[in-house]
Amino acid sequence: MPEWLKKAIFYEVYPQSFLDTNGDGIGDINGITQKLPYIRNLGCNAVWINPCFDSPFMDAGYDVRDYKKVAPRYGTNEDLIRLFETAHTLGMHVLLDLVPGHTSEEHPWFRQSSLARENEFTNRYVWTEGVWDYPVGYHFISGRSQRDGNYLVNFFSTQPALNYGFAKRTEAWQMPPEHPACVATREAMKDVMRFWLDRGCDGFRVDMANSLVKNDDEQKSATGALWRNVREMLDTAYPQAALVSEWSQPEQALPAGFHCDFFLNEKGNGYYRLLRDTDEAGGKPNSFFCRDGGGDVLPFLEEFQQRYRSTKDRGYIGLITCNHDTERLGGSLTPQEIKLAYAFLFTLPGVPFLYYGDEVGMRYRKGMVSKEGGYRRTGTRTPMQWTAGQNAGFSEAPAAKLYLPVDDAPDAPNVEAQAGQAESLYETVRSLLHLRAQYAQLSADAPFEVLYVQKRGCPLVYRRGSLVFLLNPSAAVAAAPVQVRGSLLYAIGTPVKMTADSVLVPPQSFSVVQEDAAE
Ligand code: NOJ
Repeated sequence: MPEWLKKAIFYEVYPQSFLDTNGDGIGDINGITQKLPYIRNLGCNAVWINPCFDSPFMDAGYDVRDYKKVAPRYGTNEDLIRLFETAHTLGMHVLLDLVPGHTSEEHPWFRQSSLARENEFTNRYVWTEGVWDYPVGYHFISGRSQRDGNYLVNFFSTQPALNYGFAKRTEAWQMPPEHPACVATREAMKDVMRFWLDRGCDGFRVDMANSLVKNDDEQKSATGALWRNVREMLDTAYPQAALVSEWSQPEQALPAGFHCDFFLNEKGNGYYRLLRDTDEAGGKPNSFFCRDGGGDVLPFLEEFQQRYRSTKDRGYIGLITCNHDTERLGGSLTPQEIKLAYAFLFTLPGVPFLYYGDEVGMRYRKGMVSKEGGYRRTGTRTPMQWTAGQNAGFSEAPAAKLYLPVDDAPDAPNVEAQAGQAESLYETVRSLLHLRAQYAQLSADAPFEVLYVQKRGCPLVYRRGSLVFLLNPSAAVAAAPVQVRGSLLYAIGTPVKMTADSVLVPPQSFSVVQEDAAE
């Protein structure tokens, strides 16, 4: 286990929208490097960069054409290496985004694989035996190549699936995972990992990590075996490199060798319901953090605690403020509600991930025309809002040339307006992250225990070592029959009142109490 993950606080950067330093309207690597001190000052000590590799950008870079080359629109490999070096000087770590499940249809491996003539890459992807062979239950593309066969895709039709084999085989064209062609795919991906690790990267966020071996059993045993093989390489040669999975099932991903797995806010699950549950009519937001919503923290807590208990000795759960695929909270929750949501997320065990712009409450922008395969995700990918000036300080290019239009609302939040303002969301995020960094009780692996929770009720009281947290997002004072004795360490809103045998938690508030040592 890389030691640094214990205290890691991540900032996710969507490179095209962060900072443009060469005036072409698209963010770049040098823009990220320039802002590393900003990210560090905010309180994050690690960065995850979405794919920044050569790509035709049919899926915003999740369609890689060359795993070993930075996309020219972002800069050069040397720029990225300089970014790693600067990060390390600042005591930070950097994860790249590894996309092992598929490539772009323009990747040279796929071009070779599409040829009629047999070659080294013929079985690098999954092909049927002939073009008239169109198995049901799969997403195959036909009629696009010289080769007489159809190819399987992993996501969009421009993203052919790499061949790691099929755990259960029902058709002649399905190979076992131990087939030399499938092993060669795995080894090629390990080669890509070594390439960047040798140049200074600190690990990977792994895209669709659970998707590799097809027709796997429910436990994803064959895919797990593949990742354990990758992990062996890391343990031997790169013991401080971190592997974070997009799997969203830590119970499977951590035994499969990942150090951390995201708990994604997928529609219907506890995390989604915590942050953005809607009322039964599906309209008004009814998150636990809505002042007047009457939302419920229990579905999340039950799911989280169950996952936490079954994985806490193996690795970490990654909790996100949102990511490049999901809606931002800005726009559906008020700044005060967002502060309380972050207070909860940033004091839970596991590893927190803050999406760029969420520190100022950038809003999800509804109804945007899709860009690079974004579709409804496009509204969460707009340029970072640094200032109230031209293009929100993102770029000096003419507005029409920007990757996406900036939020031009007169009250669009930005960093410049909030920095130094004690009550701002930005300063609250900073103080919360500094609190997290300061106390060992807030490390990823430090214990967590719920002391008081009620169905559709407040407050929520939980403990991490000698620290007790009292959270009440509702509009009314909330009392709990819990004894807490100690001194107030931190508060958002009015601090908790502690009586001999209960606590009174003021409306829309969060307090942290350091308990007195037992006599
Ligand atoms: C998950 C990524 O987060 C998403 O942005 C991408 O479109 C798909 N995987 C396909 O790679």
